[in-house]
Amino acid sequence: MLNADAPWDAFDPDAYFDHNYRDVLAADAEIVELVGRYFSDHFRGKLNRPVLGIDVGAGANLYPALSMLPWCREITLLERSPKNVEYLNRQLRDFEPEWGRFWKLLCDQDEAYRAVDADRRARFRQVVRVREADLFGLEDRNPLSPRPRQERYQIGTMFFVAESLSSSHDEFRRAVECFVRALAPGAPFAAAFMEGSKGYHVGDRFFPACDVNELQVDEILDEFAENVTYHRLGEVRPGHTGIILALGHRKPHSVALFRWLKRMLRRDA
Ligand SMILES: C[S@@+](CC[C@H](N)C(=O)[O-])C[C@H]1O[C@@H](n2cnc3c(N)ncnc32)[C@H](O)[C@@H]1O
Repeated sequence: MLNADAPWDAFDPDAYFDHNYRDVLAADAEIVELVGRYFSDHFRGKLNRPVLGIDVGAGANLYPALSMLPWCREITLLERSPKNVEYLNRQLRDFEPEWGRFWKLLCDQDEAYRAVDADRRARFRQVVRVREADLFGLEDRNPLSPRPRQERYQIGTMFFVAESLSSSHDEFRRAVECFVRALAPGAPFAAAFMEGSKGYHVGDRFFPACDVNELQVDEILDEFAENVTYHRLGEVRPGHTGIILALGHRKPHSVALFRWLKRMLRRDA
């Protein structure tokens, strides 16, 4: 099933939230800690101006956005499903108390989170923008084209999206590429993938997934990212074989351009 064929208009964010995030699962706690530490380490001691962040395919999950909160002047939550967009807009007004538990885990990780703890809700409202859009619209395959659509974001996350939007490996690859290409050179990112998934239910609706492993993720990221570390977390529920968390940085332009030219030359040979 391709991305365009799945019933995104019928994605039930409340059922998804109840099933996945109402309680903090051990795997999510570990992910939040790893991501919080990774972003904190990246920005620590640097005199950064507040940056632009993006969470691609945000769905009914706020912890990726919360993990970027201390450093961002704007965080785009890009999401295709209208019901998820509605859920996210509701959370902007006042996010559900359950998200406070994920926030607490981040505060336990680093001072950067504790420093904005007191006004986290106001800050969340101020900086987060929900954008109803198709992630494939971020795509711009020409590395020589000017910036506007790609390379805009200086920090990014994409959780359980590229492999969970269709059963096509080609769309999986394009989704990962769209995500990393949206990031500015040097931007830190966190991306999580369900390994070995055959699809999933949200309420009574079935959504497609693509069966991927770490090697396949790495093969795509290798072209666009550097210093990538992989963390493997065990199976959370039946229906997949584990979770892959990739933490890395978008490659500098020159390296990405060189790789692209090499690939083009190989193709023509
Ligand atoms: C399995 S959910 C993951 C949600 C959330 N990121 C999380 O961590 O739980 C997959 C999400 O991808 C979104 N999605 C699917 N196709 C998309 C597309 N083409 N563009 C943007 N979002 C898309 C879905 O609406 C859904 O919210």
